Amino acid sequence: MEIIRTVEWMKQVSREARAAERIIGFVPTMGALHEGHFSLIREAQKQCAPVVVSIFVNPKQFGPAEDFQKYPRTFEADQAALERLRVDYLFAPPPEEIYPKNFRTAVIVEGLSERLEGRSRPGHFRGVATVVLKLFEVVAPRFAYFGRKDAQQWRIIRQMAADLNLDTQIVACPIIREPDGLALSSRNRYLNESERRTATALYRSLDALRRAIDSGERDVTRLLAAMRRVLDAEAGVAVDYAEIADLETLEPAMSLRRPCLALIAAKVGATRLIDNALIEPEGDAIRVTI
Ligand code: PAJ
Repeated sequence: MEIIRTVEWMKQVSREARAAERIIGFVPTMGALHEGHFSLIREAQKQCAPVVVSIFVNPKQFGPAEDFQKYPRTFEADQAALERLRVDYLFAPPPEEIYPKNFRTAVIVEGLSERLEGRSRPGHFRGVATVVLKLFEVVAPRFAYFGRKDAQQWRIIRQMAADLNLDTQIVACPIIREPDGLALSSRNRYLNESERRTATALYRSLDALRRAIDSGERDVTRLLAAMRRVLDAEAGVAVDYAEIADLETLEPAMSLRRPCLALIAAKVGATRLIDNALIEPEGDAIRVTI
């Protein structure tokens, strides 16, 4: 695996791969890699060669009171894991490569960025969209892989790619979970033993929603109540939001007749966790993917 530290070199490598008609697959990450990231890489490797993984802890997507400084940085372990996976290129630029002193531009995906995560984390998706567009310009991938774990992020990146006619296709990948349902996240390592048990409430809440839908419930208010019951039963969970939102607009859903997301954000101790389920009508049935 080649480690690339500069924008110019990454662009050069990408140009050569494209000139040789190779299909570049790209997995952007902030490092502290786990099985969730690895699943995206494996998916990329099925469809593309070469595969580029980026590790860049993007300062612009962290709020002033957030965990940018203490975000886990485990470069050596990440590098070893990527070697084992036979990733072709690791793009790991220093911050000044991506944001030189006179950097002034931002990408704003209006309407999708302000609610849910965006309400609790103002400026977060502006930082995400800005860095992802930059990374796409530098890596110029045919396909880029995102986890459904960050459903609003996936929705926003897909919108940006469509709005700006990007040549990169966005591929959404399933959420990878621990055996007890907790979605893998770099932030899970902040949880102590008892918080770790409490944290499964997010999954259990989505599972309760799925069971309610499977037994025929279609009323959004009652479905939200079923989700809430699980979250409220757990003393250590401080819910930020638990919503069912239209997948297209991310506005609160009135019915399940259109594709929706059930989204939860909650603090367990000092750690903020998110999780979601995709709800899709299929004829008379409704499929819930957790
Ligand atoms: P990061 O949190 O490192 O996540 C990188 C990718 O891994 C994202 O697409 C995320 O959805 C996916 N991912 C994380 N946990 C997952 C899980 N349990 N199952 C499946 N996929 C999972 O998301 C970011 O970084 C950044 O915002 C980034 C897009 C790199 C821009 O800075």
